[in-house]
Amino acid sequence: IKKVAVLTSGGDSPGMNAAVRSVVRTCAYHQIECLGVYRGYEGLIEGDFLELDARSVKGIINKGGTMLKSARSKNFRTKEGRKQAYKSLKDKNVDGLVVIGGDGSFTGALIFNQEFNFPVMGIPGTIDNDIFGTTHTLGFDTALNTVVDAIDKIRDTASSHNRLFFVEVMGRDVGHIALNCGIAGGAEEILIPEEDLGLERLVESLNKSRKSGKSSSIVIVAEGDKIGKNIFELKDYVDENMEGYDVRVSVLGHMQRGGAPSCFDRVLASRMGVKAVEAMLDGESNFMVGLKNGKMELTPLDSAIKGKTKINLELLRVSDIMST
Ligand code: F6P
Repeated sequence: IKKVAVLTSGGDSPGMNAAVRSVVRTCAYHQIECLGVYRGYEGLIEGDFLELDARSVKGIINKGGTMLKSARSKNFRTKEGRKQAYKSLKDKNVDGLVVIGGDGSFTGALIFNQEFNFPVMGIPGTIDNDIFGTTHTLGFDTALNTVVDAIDKIRDTASSHNRLFFVEVMGRDVGHIALNCGIAGGAEEILIPEEDLGLERLVESLNKSRKSGKSSSIVIVAEGDKIGKNIFELKDYVDENMEGYDVRVSVLGHMQRGGAPSCFDRVLASRMGVKAVEAMLDGESNFMVGLKNGKMELTPLDSAIKGKTKINLELLRVSDIMST
């Protein structure tokens, strides 16, 4: 491998810049060239590259978003699009590709490898933490801190007005953000897709805590949860079936994806970038780098895509006990 290209794809996450920096500097350290690709696979198809050396990535380790921009490319899903992308890489003599993104981006990378036998390596970047093969994806820790900070602020106003708040958090089809932030933010209830509590059980539990002397409550709702899918209907139902609470909804939205990456995400990104480039230099391809038992480990891309992350049952129990 003499020249590596790096791109960020799918929903951005804090720590992507730190990962780009790490890939570029690891290439410089091993004296190989590095190209950045703008706008994920879209830029790959169009040949929208920029040359990156160790100095080009100064001052970005602490920045949210991605300097390379990101996109969810429809064109790369077509054979023609991927052919064009291969041509762009060959024209620039690139012989390895590092993809920073989520499972959709990895699926694209895997198909691309199978079609053109082009070496690819994945770095998991998404706030959702829904990738198999790593205990943490890039951006998850930062998003947790952002959400907890928001919950703390909502709690101030909730308790001043004796209100019940439903706070919707991101996470797509999984409840990792909701569960962790619910515990850290002292939530009364946490609704996640992995566990269907049912509306009646929710109302019963909220009534019980009201009677036990709680004057305000926060319920964290994962965006993918069945009951929470329409959070405003949930609010109406609770309004009609519970007395004594003024109910409000707060949807945190895309602010969860922004902000300076936490120390944890910066260190993780730096480690993942080194591992990704060095694994490629060792001749590996079709893997994702991940954090397992405190170490950088490789997981085959197809397992990373197909595998499911599990919700931590111990955390569920802790959250139940804490809301006593
Ligand atoms: O995958 C990251 C994520 O932020 C999810 O939590 C959320 O469901 C989705 O992306 C939002 O996507 P978009 O940025 O396209 O609105």
